Amino acid sequence: MAKIAPSILSADFANLQRDIEDIAANGGDWVHVDVMDGLFVPNITIGIPVVKALRSVTALPLDVHLMIDRPIRYVEDFIKAGADWLTVHVEADTAENTLAALEKIRSLGCKAAISLKPGTPAESALPFLHLCDMILVMTVEPGFGGQKFMADMMDKLRHLRRILDTHNPGCILEVDGGVDSTTCAVCKENGAEVLVAGSAYFGAPDRKAFVQIIQS
Ligand code: DX5
Ligand code: ZN
Repeated sequence: MAKIAPSILSADFANLQRDIEDIAANGGDWVHVDVMDGLFVPNITIGIPVVKALRSVTALPLDVHLMIDRPIRYVEDFIKAGADWLTVHVEADTAENTLAALEKIRSLGCKAAISLKPGTPAESALPFLHLCDMILVMTVEPGFGGQKFMADMMDKLRHLRRILDTHNPGCILEVDGGVDSTTCAVCKENGAEVLVAGSAYFGAPDRKAFVQIIQS
């Protein structure tokens, strides 16, 4: 069964507690938190104090997606704030610093993940696989919710699953961007085990039914 991680980027920020509690009530698996710094991506969202506040109102795993420059500077703060899964982008720093960030995440008892932007090839993940619990394949350009799903990322997803089966079979795949009740099917067929959905989840007329479609 696939997992759904609703992205709070599309939540009502004036009613975050209500919307987070609603994710659990609807059977959602994880809460996806998009952190943007206005530098790595052309948008600014939320940071460490908000993750801490979310931690106090949900028992669901917090899946924190760092879209920030040189994330190693902040991994410890996000883990202390309550992240259960912490994702860094391979494009956001040198390979050496990305390796160090992943090691630090794991040493602090958190699950570690890397993310690949649409233009980044699957092979870019190779140096990091041994330190990853998850790989996040972006199916839109990071920065904004509500963009169109890039179906041409499915080859990369399938390719990564094959690589992982050889090098790190326990590592899971997550997709993020443009996932809805239609596009979820091809993601799951190609190996995605966790599906992030922002606008489609929060815009669904029946969120519980939407969760079940993604999970089925
Ligand atoms: C985009 C974010 C996504 C975003 C997805 O940079 O990483 O998590 O919230 O939003 P939708 O599901 O609307 O594409
Ligand atoms: Zn995200």
